[in-house]
Amino acid sequence: MIKQDTIIPLLIEKEKKRQTEGLELIASENFVSAQIAAAAGSVLTNKYAEGLPGKRYYSGCHVVDEIESLAIERAKTLFNVEWVNVQPHSGSQANAALMMAVLNLGDKILGFNLAHGGHLTHGSPINFSGKLYQSFFYGVNRETGYIEWQEVAQKARETKPAMIICGASAYSRDWDYPQLRAIADEVGAFLWADIAHPAGLISQGLLNNPFPYCHFVTSTTHKTLRGPRGGMILMAKDFENPFGKTNKKGALHHMSALLDSAVFPGTQGGPLEHIIAAKAIACYEAMTKDYKTYVIQVQKNAKIMAQAFMDKGYKIVSDGTDNHLLLLDLTQKNLSGKQAETALQAADITTNKNLIPFDTTSPQVTSGIRLGTAAITTRGLVEGDILLVVEWIDRVLKNIADDFQIKKVKQEVNKYMRNFPLTTVD
Ligand SMILES: Cc1ncc(COP(=O)(O)O)c(C=O)c1O
Repeated sequence: MIKQDTIIPLLIEKEKKRQTEGLELIASENFVSAQIAAAAGSVLTNKYAEGLPGKRYYSGCHVVDEIESLAIERAKTLFNVEWVNVQPHSGSQANAALMMAVLNLGDKILGFNLAHGGHLTHGSPINFSGKLYQSFFYGVNRETGYIEWQEVAQKARETKPAMIICGASAYSRDWDYPQLRAIADEVGAFLWADIAHPAGLISQGLLNNPFPYCHFVTSTTHKTLRGPRGGMILMAKDFENPFGKTNKKGALHHMSALLDSAVFPGTQGGPLEHIIAAKAIACYEAMTKDYKTYVIQVQKNAKIMAQAFMDKGYKIVSDGTDNHLLLLDLTQKNLSGKQAETALQAADITTNKNLIPFDTTSPQVTSGIRLGTAAITTRGLVEGDILLVVEWIDRVLKNIADDFQIKKVKQEVNKYMRNFPLTTVD
C-alpha cells in the first residue's frame, strides 16, 4: 500500500485557487485544457522510450511510437513544415540540441541582446550558449524601441557569425525574416528563429512566417501555443548537412539526422512521452477554429492593453505591440519593476519585472514590467475586461504605498476572476 501524501495535494489545491482567483499576466504562461493536463498526468509517464518511433532502445514502445508519430505529424501539419523533433524537454533543451548539431565549440553566434529582450540561450555569458560559443549581440534603437535590420547587417558583417539568431522573450514587434535571411546569406551564416513566445500567433498566420527563410526554428509548446511545458525543433525543409558529418553508414548526412542525434543521445535521455502526448493534443487543438479565434483575441487584447496604458500616460517600449506582449517602461513613473511587481502581486496580479532597453538598473530591480495576454485570454477576457485590468494595474501603481487600496483591488480581482473558470479542470 502506498501511503498517501497529504501535503502536495493540498498545495496543488492552493495553487489551483491562486490560478483561479488571480490575474495571470506573465507573457510566457498559459492555461492548458483538461485533456492536455490529463495526458501530461497519464500512465505514459511510466514508459522509457530512448530513440525515435520505430527505432527505440527499449521494447514495449509500440503505443508510444503511435503517440510520438502523431505528435510529429500534427506539428508538421500545423506549421506546414517537412521535419519536426518533438522530444526536447524544454525550449532551452531544444536550443542546446540545435546549437550542438550546428555549431563547433567557440563558433561565433549573433543574437538579440538579453538586456533588450533576448533570451539567455541566445549567447548570455551566464548560460551554456555564452560559455561554449563566442556571442555577439544586436539591440533595439534607443528612440523607437525597434530592431533595425541595418544594425543587424552591420554587426553580422563585423563579426561573421556561424549562426544568426532571431527571436526574443520580451520584444513586442515582428521580425523581418527575408531581410535576416539575406544578411545570413551575405555572411555565410545559418539563420535560426526561436519562436518560443509567438509560436501560436505564427501558426495561425497572425505574424510573419519564419519557416520559408530560416534554416532552423525552435519553439516552446507552453506559451501562446497553449500546450504542456516543452520544446521542439522544426525545419521547413530538411537539407544535406554541410559539415560532412556522417556515421559509419553515412546515415547522418541530412540535418534532420544531426538534429535528432543532438537531442538524443546528444543532450537528453529518454523522451517524456506523457508530455509528447500532450504536445500532440496541443497541436490538434491549435488546428481548430476555436484556437484561431483565441489567438486573434490574444493579439487584439494586447493591442487594446497597450493603447489603454498609453491613454493613461504610460510609456510602452516601441509604443505598442504586434504580438501578445508589451513592456511597460516605468522610468517616468519613478517606480522600479521590482516595486511594481511586488505591489501588483499583493493584488493577485501576476507580472514579472523586466529590463527595458538601455535600462540603468540591474535585472533584480529593472525599470519595467512585462505583460502578456495569452493566459487571461484563455480565461475568457475580452476587450472590456482588458480595460478593467489596466484600470486595476493603474490603481495599484498609483497607490503603491497604500495597502488598503491594494487590498481593495485584490478583492475586486478575486471576485471578478471567479467568473472565468480554469480550462485545466473539468
Ligand atoms: C525566446 C525563448 N527561448 C527559449 C525559452 C526557454 O524555454 P524553457 O523555459 O522551456 O527552457 C524561452 C523561455 O522563456 C524564451 O522566451
